[in-house]
Amino acid sequence: MGYVVSIVNMKGGVGKTTITVNLAASLARDYKKRVLIVDLDTQVNATLSVMSPLDFAKLKQERRTLKTLVNQTINAELETPVAVQDAVYRQVCELETLDILAGDVELYDDYVLSELISTKARSRQQSYEQTWNRVENHLMRMVLKPILRQYDVILIDFPPGDNIITRSALLASHLYCIPVRADPLAVVGVGLLESRLKQLREVERAKAKLVGLIYTSRGQSSNMELRVKQRLETEFGSPNIFATEIPYNVEVAKAVDDFKPVVLNAPHSPGAKAFAKLAPEFIQKLAKTVRGQK
Ligand SMILES: Nc1ncnc2c1ncn2[C@@H]1O[C@H](COP(=O)(O)OP(=O)(O)OP(=O)(O)O)[C@@H](O)[C@H]1O
Ligand SMILES: [Mg+2]
Repeated sequence: MGYVVSIVNMKGGVGKTTITVNLAASLARDYKKRVLIVDLDTQVNATLSVMSPLDFAKLKQERRTLKTLVNQTINAELETPVAVQDAVYRQVCELETLDILAGDVELYDDYVLSELISTKARSRQQSYEQTWNRVENHLMRMVLKPILRQYDVILIDFPPGDNIITRSALLASHLYCIPVRADPLAVVGVGLLESRLKQLREVERAKAKLVGLIYTSRGQSSNMELRVKQRLETEFGSPNIFATEIPYNVEVAKAVDDFKPVVLNAPHSPGAKAFAKLAPEFIQKLAKTVRGQK
């Protein structure tokens, strides 16, 4: 069965998408892991990091995006169904074992979802609150269930912030990684995420275990960065922090323009080398976390 791993931090711009696509590509290319990227963000950055806007437009036209799956999972009768197996875009970037479930710029916010949920509640003669909680608990689990066995790892790229879909994705996850920049505001994002997870664990049986924090750098390291790292180490413990750090490297940002992760686009760049190192550490840390050996 595939492990569902959230790449998540409430803070924006900390490297979630870049880590998701590069880790996915390294795991598929170097370790022949069967990997699925799930793009949960309406900015569709993960999707556009691995395919051209033209390919994405075709997928959208064929309704092969997460929006259709979310829609039909909440209200089956509203849509002609698209099976998740058919929605998946296969062999991304010509890697045989790398697939993606594309995001959608119209993936719902809480307001639109609340309309859908209230239609469902009326048709089932259930209370709105009961239906909302059921959707939050089961939505992403149900979307992913039919394909769970086809992958070794499913990496979910989270948007910043928090909504019913992200909560449902956290509830569907076995594991999570937190990309973090060593600055005080990124640490606030980590704190918000941990308190959200604590709430979900109490009320809704979230079981996601932390694989580790992954540092991404913005350039020169400073005393402030060191202090922040010390704080995070005290809070999370060193086994929960990846030794591999992702350096600032312009090739990483440039690769997006070629619709390829940097590990494929400029494999000898410092950024690509760091991601190539991150993959075996991820495999090792994942195994230890699953066995409860940290
Ligand atoms: N190691 C790096 N070196 C240089 N640029 C980077 C690096 N990592 C990420 N970037 C760039 O920084 C920006 C933010 O990174 P990214 O999109 O991965 O963050 P994010 O956490 O997914 O953001 P959001 O919260 O908006 O989804 C992007 O333009 C990306 O190309
Ligand atoms: Mg992103």
